[in-house]
Amino acid sequence: MKQINIALLGFGTVGSGTARILLEQKALLEKRAGCPIHLKWICDRDLTTDRGFSVPEGILTDDLERVMNDQEVHIFIELIGGLEPARTFVLDAIRRGKHVVTANKALLAVHGEEIFRTAHENGVEVGFEASVAGGIPVIKAVREGLVANNISTVLGILNGTANYILTRMTREGIPFERVLAQAQEKGYAEADPTYDIEGVDTAHKLAIMSTLAFGSQIGLDDIYTEGISRISPLDIAFAREFGYHIKLLAIGRKREKGLDLRIHPTMIPDSHLLAQVSGAYNACYIVGDSVGKIMLYGMGAGQMPTGSAVVADVVDIARNITLGATGRVPSLGIAFDRLREPRLMPMEDLTGCYYFRFSVKDQPGVLARIAGVLGDFNISINSCVQKGRDSQDGPVPIVMLTHEAAESDVRKALKEIDSMEIVLSPTMIIRIEELDTL
Ligand code: NDP
Ligand code: HSE
Repeated sequence: MKQINIALLGFGTVGSGTARILLEQKALLEKRAGCPIHLKWICDRDLTTDRGFSVPEGILTDDLERVMNDQEVHIFIELIGGLEPARTFVLDAIRRGKHVVTANKALLAVHGEEIFRTAHENGVEVGFEASVAGGIPVIKAVREGLVANNISTVLGILNGTANYILTRMTREGIPFERVLAQAQEKGYAEADPTYDIEGVDTAHKLAIMSTLAFGSQIGLDDIYTEGISRISPLDIAFAREFGYHIKLLAIGRKREKGLDLRIHPTMIPDSHLLAQVSGAYNACYIVGDSVGKIMLYGMGAGQMPTGSAVVADVVDIARNITLGATGRVPSLGIAFDRLREPRLMPMEDLTGCYYFRFSVKDQPGVLARIAGVLGDFNISINSCVQKGRDSQDGPVPIVMLTHEAAESDVRKALKEIDSMEIVLSPTMIIRIEELDTL
Protein backbone atom coordinates (compact mmCIF):
# COMPACT_ATOMS: atom_id res chain seq x y z
CA MET A 1 0.00 0.00 0.00
CA LYS A 2 1.44 3.33 -1.08
CA GLN A 3 2.21 5.73 1.76
CA ILE A 4 1.29 9.40 1.15
CA ASN A 5 3.86 11.83 2.56
CA ILE A 6 2.91 15.26 3.78
CA ALA A 7 4.91 18.43 4.38
CA LEU A 8 3.23 21.13 6.44
CA LEU A 9 4.49 24.72 6.35
CA GLY A 10 3.29 27.00 9.18
CA PHE A 11 3.02 25.56 12.69
CA GLY A 12 0.72 28.26 14.07
CA THR A 13 -2.95 28.06 15.05
CA VAL A 14 -4.24 26.06 12.08
CA GLY A 15 -0.93 24.26 11.49
CA SER A 16 -1.01 22.92 15.06
CA GLY A 17 -4.59 21.68 14.69
CA THR A 18 -3.76 20.04 11.39
CA ALA A 19 -0.62 18.36 12.73
CA ARG A 20 -2.48 17.11 15.78
CA ILE A 21 -5.17 15.47 13.67
CA LEU A 22 -2.65 13.94 11.26
CA LEU A 23 -0.64 12.51 14.17
CA GLU A 24 -3.37 11.57 16.63
CA GLN A 25 -5.89 10.23 14.08
CA LYS A 26 -3.33 8.42 11.93
CA ALA A 27 -5.04 5.02 12.20
CA LEU A 28 -8.51 6.39 11.45
CA LEU A 29 -7.24 8.39 8.49
CA GLU A 30 -5.42 5.36 7.09
CA LYS A 31 -8.61 3.32 7.30
CA ARG A 32 -10.62 6.03 5.55
CA ALA A 33 -8.06 7.03 2.93
CA GLY A 34 -7.15 3.45 2.11
CA CYS A 35 -3.45 4.28 2.55
CA PRO A 36 -1.11 5.46 5.32
CA ILE A 37 -0.87 9.25 5.57
CA HIS A 38 2.50 10.18 6.98
CA LEU A 39 3.32 13.66 8.29
CA LYS A 40 6.94 13.76 7.20
CA TRP A 41 7.78 17.42 7.82
CA ILE A 42 6.49 20.33 9.85
CA CYS A 43 8.30 23.48 8.81
CA ASP A 44 8.18 26.79 10.68
CA ARG A 45 10.68 29.48 11.54
CA ASP A 46 9.82 29.04 15.22
CA LEU A 47 11.03 25.68 16.52
CA THR A 48 10.77 26.39 20.23
CA THR A 49 7.21 27.42 21.13
CA ASP A 50 5.30 24.70 22.95
CA ARG A 51 2.21 23.86 20.84
CA GLY A 52 0.69 21.72 23.60
CA PHE A 53 1.44 18.27 22.12
CA SER A 54 4.54 16.37 21.16
CA VAL A 55 5.67 15.71 17.62
CA PRO A 56 7.84 12.77 16.59
CA GLU A 57 11.55 13.44 16.63
CA GLY A 58 13.10 14.80 13.45
CA ILE A 59 10.03 16.09 11.67
CA LEU A 60 10.10 19.70 12.91
CA THR A 61 12.44 21.85 10.84
CA ASP A 62 13.07 25.42 9.74
CA ASP A 63 14.82 24.27 6.56
CA LEU A 64 12.20 24.86 3.87
CA GLU A 65 14.70 24.22 1.07
CA ARG A 66 15.23 20.68 2.35
CA VAL A 67 11.46 20.12 2.56
CA MET A 68 10.87 21.46 -0.96
CA ASN A 69 13.64 19.26 -2.35
CA ASP A 70 12.22 16.13 -0.75
CA GLN A 71 10.92 14.19 -3.72
CA GLU A 72 9.03 11.79 -1.46
CA VAL A 73 6.59 14.52 -0.43
CA HIS A 74 3.28 14.20 -2.26
CA ILE A 75 1.23 16.92 -0.57
CA PHE A 76 2.44 20.35 0.53
CA ILE A 77 0.21 22.11 3.09
CA GLU A 78 0.61 25.91 3.20
CA LEU A 79 -0.53 27.44 6.50
CA ILE A 80 1.67 30.50 6.89
CA GLY A 81 -0.97 32.91 5.53
CA GLY A 82 -0.52 36.17 3.62
CA LEU A 83 0.35 36.75 -0.03
CA GLU A 84 4.13 36.55 -0.10
CA PRO A 85 6.10 34.40 0.38
CA ALA A 86 3.07 32.04 0.46
CA ARG A 87 2.41 32.54 -3.29
CA THR A 88 6.03 31.76 -4.21
CA PHE A 89 6.13 28.64 -2.01
CA VAL A 90 2.81 27.32 -3.32
CA LEU A 91 3.76 27.85 -6.98
CA ASP A 92 7.16 26.29 -6.34
CA ALA A 93 5.56 23.21 -4.77
CA ILE A 94 3.11 22.89 -7.67
CA ARG A 95 5.89 23.17 -10.26
CA ARG A 96 7.72 20.40 -8.44
CA GLY A 97 4.66 18.21 -8.96
CA LYS A 98 3.36 18.37 -5.40
CA HIS A 99 -0.34 18.68 -4.62
CA VAL A 100 -1.18 21.65 -2.44
CA VAL A 101 -3.62 22.18 0.40
CA THR A 102 -4.12 25.67 1.79
CA ALA A 103 -6.40 27.60 4.17
CA ASN A 104 -5.17 30.88 2.70
CA LYS A 105 -8.24 32.67 1.31
CA ALA A 106 -6.32 35.91 0.79
CA LEU A 107 -3.87 34.09 -1.45
CA LEU A 108 -6.61 32.40 -3.49
CA ALA A 109 -8.75 35.52 -3.79
CA VAL A 110 -5.81 37.52 -5.12
CA HIS A 111 -3.66 34.94 -6.95
CA GLY A 112 -6.19 32.14 -7.47
CA GLU A 113 -6.15 32.41 -11.26
CA GLU A 114 -2.37 31.93 -11.40
CA ILE A 115 -2.35 29.15 -8.82
CA PHE A 116 -5.18 27.11 -10.36
CA ARG A 117 -3.76 27.58 -13.87
CA THR A 118 -0.30 26.42 -12.75
CA ALA A 119 -1.84 23.44 -10.95
CA HIS A 120 -3.82 22.56 -14.08
CA GLU A 121 -0.66 22.74 -16.22
CA ASN A 122 1.25 20.55 -13.77
CA GLY A 123 -1.51 17.98 -13.25
CA VAL A 124 -1.80 18.49 -9.50
CA GLU A 125 -4.70 19.27 -7.19
CA VAL A 126 -5.23 22.29 -4.97
CA GLY A 127 -7.41 21.73 -1.88
CA PHE A 128 -8.86 24.79 -0.16
CA GLU A 129 -11.78 23.59 1.96
CA ALA A 130 -10.41 25.42 5.01
CA SER A 131 -10.28 28.74 3.19
CA VAL A 132 -14.02 29.38 3.58
CA ALA A 133 -16.05 28.88 6.75
CA GLY A 134 -13.37 27.02 8.72
CA GLY A 135 -14.58 23.54 9.60
CA ILE A 136 -17.78 23.59 7.53
CA PRO A 137 -17.42 21.63 4.28
CA VAL A 138 -18.97 24.36 2.10
CA ILE A 139 -16.52 24.00 -0.77
CA LYS A 140 -17.19 20.30 -1.17
CA ALA A 141 -20.93 20.89 -0.82
CA VAL A 142 -21.02 23.42 -3.68
CA ARG A 143 -18.50 21.62 -5.87
CA GLU A 144 -19.85 18.10 -5.44
CA GLY A 145 -23.04 17.76 -3.41
CA LEU A 146 -24.83 20.52 -5.36
CA VAL A 147 -23.38 19.67 -8.77
CA ALA A 148 -26.90 19.18 -10.17
CA ASN A 149 -27.97 22.74 -9.35
CA ASN A 150 -27.92 26.15 -10.92
CA ILE A 151 -27.10 28.15 -7.85
CA SER A 152 -28.87 31.50 -7.66
CA THR A 153 -27.95 32.67 -4.16
CA VAL A 154 -25.12 32.31 -1.68
CA LEU A 155 -25.51 34.17 1.60
CA GLY A 156 -22.89 33.73 4.25
CA ILE A 157 -21.82 34.68 7.70
CA LEU A 158 -18.23 33.89 6.89
CA ASN A 159 -16.11 35.71 9.42
CA GLY A 160 -16.00 34.24 12.91
CA THR A 161 -14.30 37.27 14.42
CA ALA A 162 -16.85 39.79 13.13
CA ASN A 163 -19.74 37.55 14.13
CA TYR A 164 -18.24 36.99 17.57
CA ILE A 165 -17.92 40.76 18.03
CA LEU A 166 -21.47 41.52 16.87
CA THR A 167 -22.88 38.72 19.02
CA ARG A 168 -21.19 39.89 22.21
CA MET A 169 -22.10 43.51 21.48
CA THR A 170 -25.72 42.42 20.99
CA ARG A 171 -25.97 40.17 24.02
CA GLU A 172 -23.73 41.88 26.54
CA GLY A 173 -23.17 45.40 25.26
CA ILE A 174 -19.39 44.85 25.54
CA PRO A 175 -17.32 47.53 23.76
CA PHE A 176 -15.97 46.67 20.33
CA GLU A 177 -12.24 46.80 21.23
CA ARG A 178 -12.55 44.45 24.22
CA VAL A 179 -14.42 41.80 22.25
CA LEU A 180 -11.90 42.02 19.42
CA ALA A 181 -9.06 41.34 21.86
CA GLN A 182 -10.89 38.23 23.09
CA ALA A 183 -11.41 36.97 19.52
CA GLN A 184 -7.68 37.39 18.92
CA GLU A 185 -6.87 35.43 22.10
CA LYS A 186 -9.06 32.60 20.88
CA GLY A 187 -7.10 32.40 17.59
CA TYR A 188 -10.02 33.40 15.34
CA ALA A 189 -8.62 36.67 14.03
CA GLU A 190 -6.35 37.21 11.04
CA ALA A 191 -2.77 38.41 11.54
CA ASP A 192 -4.16 41.83 10.59
CA PRO A 193 -7.55 41.98 12.34
CA THR A 194 -8.71 44.91 10.19
CA TYR A 195 -9.25 42.24 7.53
CA ASP A 196 -11.89 40.67 9.80
CA ILE A 197 -13.52 43.93 10.85
CA GLU A 198 -13.51 45.77 7.55
CA GLY A 199 -14.98 42.86 5.60
CA VAL A 200 -11.82 42.06 3.61
CA ASP A 201 -11.57 38.50 4.92
CA THR A 202 -15.25 37.97 4.10
CA ALA A 203 -14.62 39.36 0.60
CA HIS A 204 -11.78 36.86 0.12
CA LYS A 205 -14.19 34.08 1.02
CA LEU A 206 -17.04 35.37 -1.13
CA ALA A 207 -14.65 35.61 -4.10
CA ILE A 208 -13.86 31.91 -3.67
CA MET A 209 -17.48 30.85 -3.05
CA SER A 210 -18.91 32.81 -5.94
CA THR A 211 -16.24 31.57 -8.34
CA LEU A 212 -17.34 28.05 -7.44
CA ALA A 213 -21.08 28.71 -7.31
CA PHE A 214 -21.40 30.88 -10.43
CA GLY A 215 -18.59 29.49 -12.60
CA SER A 216 -16.93 32.90 -13.13
CA GLN A 217 -13.49 33.98 -11.96
CA ILE A 218 -14.37 36.52 -9.25
CA GLY A 219 -11.75 38.88 -7.88
CA LEU A 220 -11.78 41.21 -4.88
CA ASP A 221 -12.49 44.25 -7.06
CA ASP A 222 -15.75 42.65 -8.16
CA ILE A 223 -17.14 42.74 -4.61
CA TYR A 224 -18.53 45.84 -2.87
CA THR A 225 -17.14 45.70 0.67
CA GLU A 226 -18.04 47.48 3.91
CA GLY A 227 -17.08 46.39 7.42
CA ILE A 228 -18.57 46.61 10.89
CA SER A 229 -16.31 49.19 12.52
CA ARG A 230 -18.96 51.94 12.41
CA ILE A 231 -21.71 49.82 13.99
CA SER A 232 -22.54 51.16 17.43
CA PRO A 233 -24.46 49.60 20.32
CA LEU A 234 -27.18 52.14 19.42
CA ASP A 235 -27.64 50.60 15.95
CA ILE A 236 -27.79 47.16 17.48
CA ALA A 237 -30.44 48.30 19.97
CA PHE A 238 -32.55 49.96 17.24
CA ALA A 239 -32.25 46.86 15.06
CA ARG A 240 -33.54 44.72 17.92
CA GLU A 241 -36.48 47.11 18.39
CA PHE A 242 -37.44 46.70 14.74
CA GLY A 243 -37.09 42.89 14.87
CA TYR A 244 -33.71 42.51 13.16
CA HIS A 245 -30.22 41.22 13.90
CA ILE A 246 -27.20 42.95 12.38
CA LYS A 247 -24.81 40.54 10.66
CA LEU A 248 -21.78 41.04 8.45
CA LEU A 249 -23.34 39.27 5.49
CA ALA A 250 -21.66 38.05 2.32
CA ILE A 251 -24.20 38.25 -0.48
CA GLY A 252 -23.83 36.56 -3.86
CA ARG A 253 -26.84 36.56 -6.16
CA LYS A 254 -27.33 35.85 -9.83
CA ARG A 255 -29.63 38.61 -11.10
CA GLU A 256 -30.86 39.65 -14.52
CA LYS A 257 -28.47 42.59 -14.55
CA GLY A 258 -25.51 40.39 -13.59
CA LEU A 259 -23.88 39.07 -10.43
CA ASP A 260 -24.75 41.03 -7.30
CA LEU A 261 -21.73 40.57 -5.01
CA ARG A 262 -21.41 42.54 -1.80
CA ILE A 263 -20.42 42.48 1.82
CA HIS A 264 -21.78 44.88 4.38
CA PRO A 265 -23.44 44.96 7.77
CA THR A 266 -26.97 43.81 7.07
CA MET A 267 -30.19 43.77 9.04
CA ILE A 268 -31.87 40.40 8.73
CA PRO A 269 -35.17 39.38 10.33
CA ASP A 270 -34.92 37.74 13.75
CA SER A 271 -36.96 34.84 12.40
CA HIS A 272 -34.35 33.82 9.81
CA LEU A 273 -31.98 30.99 10.72
CA LEU A 274 -28.99 33.18 9.80
CA ALA A 275 -29.98 35.55 12.60
CA GLN A 276 -29.43 32.72 15.09
CA VAL A 277 -25.82 32.14 14.00
CA SER A 278 -23.84 33.46 16.92
CA GLY A 279 -20.30 33.72 18.25
CA ALA A 280 -17.52 32.41 16.02
CA TYR A 281 -20.00 30.18 14.22
CA ASN A 282 -20.39 30.61 10.46
CA ALA A 283 -23.21 29.67 8.16
CA CYS A 284 -23.73 29.50 4.47
CA TYR A 285 -27.22 29.65 3.01
CA ILE A 286 -27.47 28.48 -0.58
CA VAL A 287 -30.35 28.35 -3.02
CA GLY A 288 -30.18 25.89 -5.90
CA ASP A 289 -32.86 25.30 -8.52
CA SER A 290 -33.23 21.60 -7.69
CA VAL A 291 -32.32 21.37 -4.03
CA GLY A 292 -34.13 24.57 -2.95
CA LYS A 293 -32.80 26.32 0.14
CA ILE A 294 -30.12 24.75 2.31
CA MET A 295 -27.99 26.05 5.15
CA LEU A 296 -24.64 24.74 6.38
CA TYR A 297 -23.60 25.73 9.89
CA GLY A 298 -20.59 25.21 12.13
CA MET A 299 -17.36 26.64 13.51
CA GLY A 300 -15.90 29.09 11.04
CA ALA A 301 -12.51 29.53 12.66
CA GLY A 302 -10.19 28.05 15.25
CA GLN A 303 -7.44 25.50 15.45
CA MET A 304 -9.24 22.15 15.36
CA PRO A 305 -12.27 22.99 13.13
CA THR A 306 -9.99 24.49 10.51
CA GLY A 307 -7.53 21.61 10.90
CA SER A 308 -10.45 19.26 10.24
CA ALA A 309 -11.06 20.92 6.86
CA VAL A 310 -7.37 20.86 5.92
CA VAL A 311 -7.14 17.16 6.68
CA ALA A 312 -10.31 16.46 4.67
CA ASP A 313 -8.53 17.85 1.60
CA VAL A 314 -5.42 15.81 2.36
CA VAL A 315 -7.48 12.61 2.50
CA ASP A 316 -9.30 13.45 -0.75
CA ILE A 317 -6.03 14.00 -2.56
CA ALA A 318 -4.47 10.89 -1.01
CA ARG A 319 -7.41 8.78 -2.20
CA ASN A 320 -7.04 10.14 -5.72
CA ILE A 321 -3.29 9.52 -5.79
CA THR A 322 -3.78 5.96 -4.57
CA LEU A 323 -6.46 5.23 -7.19
CA GLY A 324 -4.62 7.06 -10.00
CA ALA A 325 -7.58 9.46 -10.15
CA THR A 326 -5.88 12.81 -9.63
CA GLY A 327 -8.03 15.60 -11.05
CA ARG A 328 -11.21 13.48 -10.95
CA VAL A 329 -13.04 16.44 -9.41
CA PRO A 330 -11.77 19.76 -10.82
CA SER A 331 -10.65 22.06 -7.97
CA LEU A 332 -13.10 24.79 -9.03
CA GLY A 333 -15.95 22.46 -9.89
CA ILE A 334 -15.53 22.92 -13.64
CA ALA A 335 -12.54 22.51 -15.91
CA PHE A 336 -10.23 25.48 -15.40
CA ASP A 337 -10.51 26.64 -19.04
CA ARG A 338 -14.32 26.78 -18.81
CA LEU A 339 -14.40 29.56 -16.21
CA ARG A 340 -16.04 32.68 -17.64
CA GLU A 341 -15.36 36.38 -17.16
CA PRO A 342 -18.00 37.62 -14.70
CA ARG A 343 -20.87 39.90 -15.72
CA LEU A 344 -21.38 42.13 -12.71
CA MET A 345 -24.33 44.18 -11.52
CA PRO A 346 -23.11 47.66 -10.51
CA MET A 347 -23.78 48.46 -6.85
CA GLU A 348 -25.67 51.62 -7.93
CA ASP A 349 -28.29 49.37 -9.58
CA LEU A 350 -29.20 47.75 -6.27
CA THR A 351 -32.64 48.34 -4.83
CA GLY A 352 -33.72 47.47 -1.31
CA CYS A 353 -34.85 48.75 2.06
CA TYR A 354 -32.55 50.81 4.26
CA TYR A 355 -31.96 51.79 7.87
CA PHE A 356 -30.69 55.34 8.37
CA ARG A 357 -29.49 56.77 11.67
CA PHE A 358 -29.15 60.52 11.44
CA SER A 359 -27.22 62.28 14.15
CA VAL A 360 -28.79 65.73 14.31
CA LYS A 361 -29.35 68.87 16.33
CA ASP A 362 -32.53 68.69 18.38
CA GLN A 363 -34.44 71.67 17.03
CA PRO A 364 -37.73 72.37 15.27
CA GLY A 365 -38.00 71.50 11.58
CA VAL A 366 -35.09 69.02 11.43
CA LEU A 367 -37.24 65.99 10.78
CA ALA A 368 -39.18 67.79 8.06
CA ARG A 369 -36.01 68.89 6.26
CA ILE A 370 -34.59 65.37 6.23
CA ALA A 371 -37.89 63.86 5.12
CA GLY A 372 -38.09 66.50 2.40
CA VAL A 373 -34.75 65.51 0.86
CA LEU A 374 -35.64 61.83 1.03
CA GLY A 375 -38.92 62.63 -0.73
CA ASP A 376 -37.06 64.55 -3.45
CA PHE A 377 -35.12 61.39 -4.22
CA ASN A 378 -38.14 59.06 -4.23
CA ILE A 379 -37.24 57.49 -0.91
CA SER A 380 -40.34 56.59 1.03
CA ILE A 381 -40.18 56.28 4.83
CA ASN A 382 -41.60 53.10 6.34
CA SER A 383 -41.07 53.98 10.02
CA CYS A 384 -39.32 56.61 12.06
CA VAL A 385 -38.11 56.82 15.69
CA GLN A 386 -36.55 59.70 17.56
CA LYS A 387 -35.06 59.18 21.01
CA GLY A 388 -34.71 61.94 23.60
CA ARG A 389 -31.43 63.78 23.98
CA ASP A 390 -28.84 62.85 26.64
CA SER A 391 -27.48 66.35 27.10
CA GLN A 392 -28.69 69.87 26.40
CA ASP A 393 -26.66 70.47 23.23
CA GLY A 394 -25.75 66.92 22.27
CA PRO A 395 -26.86 65.21 19.06
CA VAL A 396 -30.04 63.19 18.94
CA PRO A 397 -30.49 60.10 16.81
CA ILE A 398 -33.33 59.98 14.32
CA VAL A 399 -33.78 56.53 12.89
CA MET A 400 -35.75 55.72 9.74
CA LEU A 401 -36.51 52.53 7.89
CA THR A 402 -37.36 52.99 4.23
CA HIS A 403 -39.53 51.18 1.76
CA GLU A 404 -37.75 49.81 -1.28
CA ALA A 405 -35.41 52.48 -2.68
CA ALA A 406 -32.63 52.67 -5.25
CA GLU A 407 -29.05 52.68 -3.97
CA SER A 408 -28.18 55.47 -6.41
CA ASP A 409 -30.97 57.66 -4.95
CA VAL A 410 -29.93 56.80 -1.39
CA ARG A 411 -26.37 57.91 -2.08
CA LYS A 412 -27.46 61.21 -3.59
CA ALA A 413 -29.96 61.94 -0.80
CA LEU A 414 -27.48 61.18 1.98
CA LYS A 415 -24.83 63.33 0.34
CA GLU A 416 -27.24 66.24 0.45
CA ILE A 417 -28.47 65.50 3.98
CA ASP A 418 -24.95 65.06 5.40
CA SER A 419 -23.97 68.47 4.08
CA MET A 420 -26.71 70.22 6.14
CA GLU A 421 -25.60 72.16 9.22
CA ILE A 422 -28.19 70.34 11.37
CA VAL A 423 -26.43 67.00 10.75
CA LEU A 424 -23.64 66.49 13.25
CA SER A 425 -21.93 63.35 11.94
CA PRO A 426 -22.14 61.17 8.82
CA THR A 427 -25.39 59.24 8.62
CA MET A 428 -25.20 55.57 9.46
CA ILE A 429 -26.70 53.41 6.78
CA ILE A 430 -27.45 49.71 7.04
CA ARG A 431 -29.03 47.72 4.24
CA ILE A 432 -31.94 45.45 5.10
CA GLU A 433 -32.43 42.00 3.58
CA GLU A 434 -35.99 40.80 4.04
CA LEU A 435 -35.05 37.13 3.72
CA ASP A 436 -37.73 34.46 3.36
CA THR A 437 -37.64 31.99 6.19
CA LEU A 438 -35.65 28.88 5.39
P1 NDP B 1 -0.67 31.82 12.54
O1 NDP B 1 -0.04 33.15 12.49
O2 NDP B 1 -1.17 31.31 13.84
O3 NDP B 1 0.39 30.73 11.99
C1 NDP B 1 1.26 30.95 10.93
C2 NDP B 1 2.58 30.28 11.27
O4 NDP B 1 3.42 30.31 10.12
C3 NDP B 1 3.33 30.98 12.38
O5 NDP B 1 3.91 30.03 13.23
C4 NDP B 1 4.37 31.78 11.63
O6 NDP B 1 5.51 32.08 12.38
C5 NDP B 1 4.70 30.81 10.51
N1 NDP B 1 5.32 31.46 9.37
C6 NDP B 1 4.95 32.63 8.79
N2 NDP B 1 5.76 32.88 7.74
C7 NDP B 1 6.65 31.87 7.67
C8 NDP B 1 7.73 31.58 6.80
N3 NDP B 1 8.05 32.38 5.79
N4 NDP B 1 8.45 30.46 7.01
C9 NDP B 1 8.14 29.64 8.04
N5 NDP B 1 7.12 29.85 8.90
C10 NDP B 1 6.38 30.95 8.71
O7 NDP B 1 -1.82 31.80 11.44
P2 NDP B 1 -3.12 30.88 11.40
O8 NDP B 1 -2.76 29.48 11.70
O9 NDP B 1 -4.20 31.53 12.16
O10 NDP B 1 -3.53 31.04 9.86
C11 NDP B 1 -2.88 30.30 8.86
C12 NDP B 1 -3.71 30.40 7.60
O11 NDP B 1 -4.98 29.82 7.83
C13 NDP B 1 -3.97 31.83 7.13
O12 NDP B 1 -3.99 31.85 5.73
C14 NDP B 1 -5.36 32.11 7.68
O13 NDP B 1 -6.06 33.07 6.91
C15 NDP B 1 -6.00 30.77 7.52
N6 NDP B 1 -7.14 30.48 8.38
C16 NDP B 1 -7.04 30.70 9.72
C17 NDP B 1 -8.09 30.37 10.55
C18 NDP B 1 -8.05 30.56 12.02
O14 NDP B 1 -9.04 30.23 12.68
N7 NDP B 1 -6.96 31.03 12.58
C19 NDP B 1 -9.32 29.77 9.99
C20 NDP B 1 -9.31 29.57 8.56
C21 NDP B 1 -8.24 29.92 7.80
P3 NDP B 1 5.57 33.49 13.18
O15 NDP B 1 4.61 33.31 14.31
O16 NDP B 1 7.00 33.59 13.55
O17 NDP B 1 5.11 34.55 12.22
N1 HSE C 1 -10.17 35.35 10.75
C1 HSE C 1 -11.09 34.43 10.20
C2 HSE C 1 -12.40 34.53 10.94
C3 HSE C 1 -10.55 33.03 10.31
O1 HSE C 1 -12.46 35.19 11.98
O2 HSE C 1 -13.38 33.96 10.48
C4 HSE C 1 -11.36 32.05 9.55
O3 HSE C 1 -11.21 32.21 8.21
